[in-house]
Parts: sequence; C-alpha cells; structure tokens
Amino acid sequence: MALGSASFFIITSLIWPFRLTVNAAGCVVVVAGITIAKVETELLEPNATGIARAAALLRAGEVVALPTETVYGLAANALDAQAVARIYTTKGRPADNPLIVHVTGSEQAAELVTEIPPAAEALMAAFWPGPLTIVLPKRDLVPAITTATRPDVALRAPAHPAFQEVLAASGLVLAAPSANVAGRPSPTSAEHVMTDLAGRIPAVLDGGEASIGVESTVITLTSGEPRVLRPGGISVAQLSDVVGPVTIDDAVLAPVAADFLPGAPGMKYRHYSPRTPLIAISGPLRAQIDFLTQEAATRAMGIMSFDDDAAAFAPLPTISYGRRDDADSQARQLYTALRAVDDLGVDLVYVQIPGQNSGISAAIRNRLLKATGHQIISLN
Ligand code: TXA
Ligand code: MG
Repeated sequence: MALGSASFFIITSLIWPFRLTVNAAGCVVVVAGITIAKVETELLEPNATGIARAAALLRAGEVVALPTETVYGLAANALDAQAVARIYTTKGRPADNPLIVHVTGSEQAAELVTEIPPAAEALMAAFWPGPLTIVLPKRDLVPAITTATRPDVALRAPAHPAFQEVLAASGLVLAAPSANVAGRPSPTSAEHVMTDLAGRIPAVLDGGEASIGVESTVITLTSGEPRVLRPGGISVAQLSDVVGPVTIDDAVLAPVAADFLPGAPGMKYRHYSPRTPLIAISGPLRAQIDFLTQEAATRAMGIMSFDDDAAAFAPLPTISYGRRDDADSQARQLYTALRAVDDLGVDLVYVQIPGQNSGISAAIRNRLLKATGHQIISLN
C-alpha cells in the first residue's frame, strides 16, 4: 500500500542505529526483532467515503476490520496470499486455522469451488445473505494460506449492508476471521475492535452493534451427510428443514482431546475467554443462589447472569447479558459481557448458561462451554 494512506509514526530515537524494516502493509516496523512502530487506525463511517476508503485499502493488499451481522471481521483479499498472511500475523492466529471467504452470493461462490452440490445450492438460497458458512471443495485459485492448506474452502455471504458495499466496491472476495486478537471474545462493535487492534490495522469500518452477536453456523458438505462444525446464527432445525438430517461434529458439544482433529480446526482452540477464570452454572435459580452464596464466603467471585436474575445475586459483583427467556438478546450481549468480566475485579466468575441446546442457545452454550474450558456446575 502507499505509505501515505495511513498515518505513521515512528519513534526515531529508538530505532537508530538499528536496521529498520517496514513491511508492505506499513503495520509493523521491526528493529532487531522488536515491534516499535504502529499505524494510526482510522475509524471509518459506513458512508460512501468510508466504503470507498475501505475498498481502496483492501485493493492495496491491506487488512481492514468490517462489520457483519454476526461479529466484526478482519478482512483482506482472499486470493492474495500476502494480504491473507497479514490477517494471521495481525490476530496472532495459529497457521492451521483456515479462514472464511466472504462473497456476494452463490455466483461468486461458484468461482471458488469445484462444484456446488444441490444441498449447498438449497442452503444458499434459503440462508444467504446471512449467518451461514458452507464448506466446499476449493479451486486452485484460492491460495493454500487462506484455507490453512485444506482442500476445501469455507464460504459465506454476509447480510450487513456495509460489508456488502465493500465487497461490491472492491470487486474482491474477502477472507475474514473475527476481528479479535486470537483467544479473546469476538468483537460485536467497532469499539471492541479498537480495543484489540488499534495501532495494528489501518482502518475499522464502524457499522454499529452486530445484530446477531455470535458467529455464523459452519456446515460442511464435502463428504456424506451435511455436518455442523460450529453452531451459530442459523439453527440445526433451520438447516434440517432445508437439507434433511444433519450431523453435529463431536467438537461442538464436548471438550476436544489432544489427538482429535475437529472438522473446523478453530474448535480445538480455547476461545472467547476473559483473563478471569470462568465456570458455567445451570439449574433452578434458588439452588444457584444457595451455591453461590456459599462460594462467595470463601473467595472474591462475581456472576455473569441473565438480566432478570441479576438482582437475586446482589450484593455480589454482577454483569448481565440478556433476558432469561430471550436467547436473541443473550446472543447480542454475550461478547460485550465476556469482555467486561475482567473489569469485575474478582478472582473467579460464574456464568449462567442457557439450559436448552436448541436455536441460537446452542451457539451461546457452545461459546460459554469453550470460554469455561467445559467446566459446568449443574444444580438441581
Ligand atoms: O460469523 C462469522 O463466521 C465471522 C464473520 C466475520 O463472518 N467469522 C468468523 O471467523 O467467525 P473465524 O475465523 O473466527 O471462525 C471460522 C471458523 C473456524 O473455527 C475455522 O476453523 C472454521 O470456521 N473454518 C474455516 N475454514 C474452514 C474449512 N475449510 N473447513 C473447516 N472449517 C473451517
Ligand atoms: Mg474467531
């Protein structure tokens, strides 16, 4: 990219007399192995100027954080191996974790895969644009780094208008993982992205709060029965209505053994985690209150609860994430609450986990089980 397109500052007194390397992105300046310079991150409005700026940066091989209806993504040209490499280094993402490629729809998808079977076509027709990612065998033009050397590629047409406009304006297909530092909760606002990546990326396009709040459902159609690799914005019941029976990857519901390779490589990593240890809790409210009151006598602990239950846990430090009977509101607030857990200033946080494993609650349960390392206290 042109260096002038992002404002730079370099602490020159620190760099002399060492050799200075500025990579093509201008994001990283390495001096004797130490990163000392940053870009100033532009916060772009989702208007014509902001869209054009995001598209220009992406066409120049840069990474830009973009809003989607699920979570914000850290986007780059999916067909440019160097641009995609920048996604991995910026996030600190493990090299074996492939990226989702975002497209305008089934026509663009068809250019990236060897074939679109009828089941995939039906899913695209039913759920695109929207929170469904479909894994299909890739064509050679998709670089190995985009799919972490896998022979298949994950495709999604996002519904957020600003993302769609950037796709149209850039003419690119965009690889984009969630725009968080690896291991942190996914960002559902431009502010979350800034917290994690300000100074490391040239721009964030502010498209407001994500309307869904958890990531897309990932389904593979590369062999046999359709298999859900990650629960998300589209439920298993919705999928079955369109393609009949679907199986669920083992990594979705249970902890992953060291020697097990999940269908979605990302599912083996601990994710969505605050720094404060987190334990899930479920069961009748009365039993939860009794249990937590006892626990609170022995350590500094807090609760991440449903809105309606927060008062019942007073005076323990509490943060809430949506109404007990409204899974959509829980999904929207889940990551904001997980990001605020560390601010409670306690040694341990118990989080109320939805009881049912259907609809979007399945995604919320999956994220919370991963955030807690599958530690759950079930009371009755
Ligand atoms: O809603 C979303 O999906 C967001 C927005 C930005 O689109 N993206 C997202 O990306 O959540 P990421 O990278 O955080 O999660 C992608 C998941 C990972 O678990 C990854 O391993 C899996 O999808 N995945 C990607 N490509 C795959 C492939 N070819 N085969 C199997 N799993 C794949
Ligand atoms: Mg992610």
